[in-house]
Amino acid sequence: MYPTYVRGLPDGSERGHFLALDLGGTNFRVLLITLKGIDVEMKNKIFPISQELMHGEGTLLFDYIAECLEMFQREYNLMQDTLSLGFTFSFPCKQEGLTKARLVKWTKGFTCPGVENEDVVRLLNEAIARRGSSINIQCTALLNDTVGCLMSCAFLDHNSMVGVILGTGTNACYMEHLDKVLTWDGDFDEPKRVEQSENVQHSDAISRKVIINTEWGAFGDNGELDFIRTDLDHVVDKASLNPGKQIFEKMISGMYMGELVRLVLVKCARDELLFSGETSQDLETQGRFYTKYVSKLKRDEESEGYTNTKQVLDELGVEKYTMDDCRHVQYICSTISSRAAYLASAGIATLLNRVNLPNVTVAVDGSLYRFHPHFHRRMMEKTKELLDNGIQVSDLLLTCPSCDLSPVVGCNEVHLLRYIT
Ligand code: GLC
Repeated sequence: MYPTYVRGLPDGSERGHFLALDLGGTNFRVLLITLKGIDVEMKNKIFPISQELMHGEGTLLFDYIAECLEMFQREYNLMQDTLSLGFTFSFPCKQEGLTKARLVKWTKGFTCPGVENEDVVRLLNEAIARRGSSINIQCTALLNDTVGCLMSCAFLDHNSMVGVILGTGTNACYMEHLDKVLTWDGDFDEPKRVEQSENVQHSDAISRKVIINTEWGAFGDNGELDFIRTDLDHVVDKASLNPGKQIFEKMISGMYMGELVRLVLVKCARDELLFSGETSQDLETQGRFYTKYVSKLKRDEESEGYTNTKQVLDELGVEKYTMDDCRHVQYICSTISSRAAYLASAGIATLLNRVNLPNVTVAVDGSLYRFHPHFHRRMMEKTKELLDNGIQVSDLLLTCPSCDLSPVVGCNEVHLLRYIT
């Protein structure tokens, strides 16, 4: 649980130009965002992050980011302007302010030495400075992707109090009363300017509260989930880059779901319950069953003859499969993805019971949630079942339904600037 120093939510009145950087997976994005009320204009460029950068010295990663920022500025003719930048850095950080955040530990396959325990805003600003006067950018706020997701959604729906990411990793944040945050070392009176909103919940939200980044992916690291972990959960964990860590994440998120399915398929085949007892070289290869296959398979209906399922099995070189095998593969995917949806729902319901407001919207984003055809429905059903009496979840709202994550960062940036000036 990390306080974020973000003390309010946007209300749709934000305006201006903003630069944003989004780092959290195998790509990172630079965005130029213009907000005009609820209209958002966006220019956006995606840069890949190679395996060498994910595991090489931290300074190399930050130098590469600074280089890409400069390319972006040149491409959009922004070299004359001094731009302030909102940095969405989707890893666990202990924040000491809006612009000071120490990385606690890398997750999601990153291992760059020289970054853990360091202030990542300083590392970014230093990399920018190393490029000399050709680049004029100042990082003015750092935030987690869950916070970006919540703020983006709150921009449109003032009942949003919880932000959830279900993608490569998983995590959630929520609005908490300052007096319940025992580690809070910031100001109790800021933000000075508390806008009057038509919505009472929202006015309350922007007063004496702060967003808490729960880092729920690490739940279970002290054995709390051992009673439901299976043998194959242990196999996934042991083969990962961070054994013993991010246990909840490893049972839910996109980085691990495909691998769990693969392990079950291999076990069933070896036990002669699938594919006439035969596997294939691809199916035996770690990481070869992608999580996107799970979503693809779930779009199949038996009446259509399992077209997607067959396509995936063909791609994996599985030769001897029957219609029954296809049905069983479907069932395995359903079971593993339902378990993930239910575990995430348990986390959401716990946060909603804690927030304890009668009607709350949950902002959700991430590739797993976006592309899996049944995740939303399963989560709605299970979350409702787990809520305390009198509490309702009005919706699980996909952040910015018609576009991608980017305006999130813009909203954050605008909002943060408003409260630090
Ligand atoms: C991992 C990170 C967390 C992030 C989540 C979703 O769990 O530790 O900070 O929010 O992935 O990207």
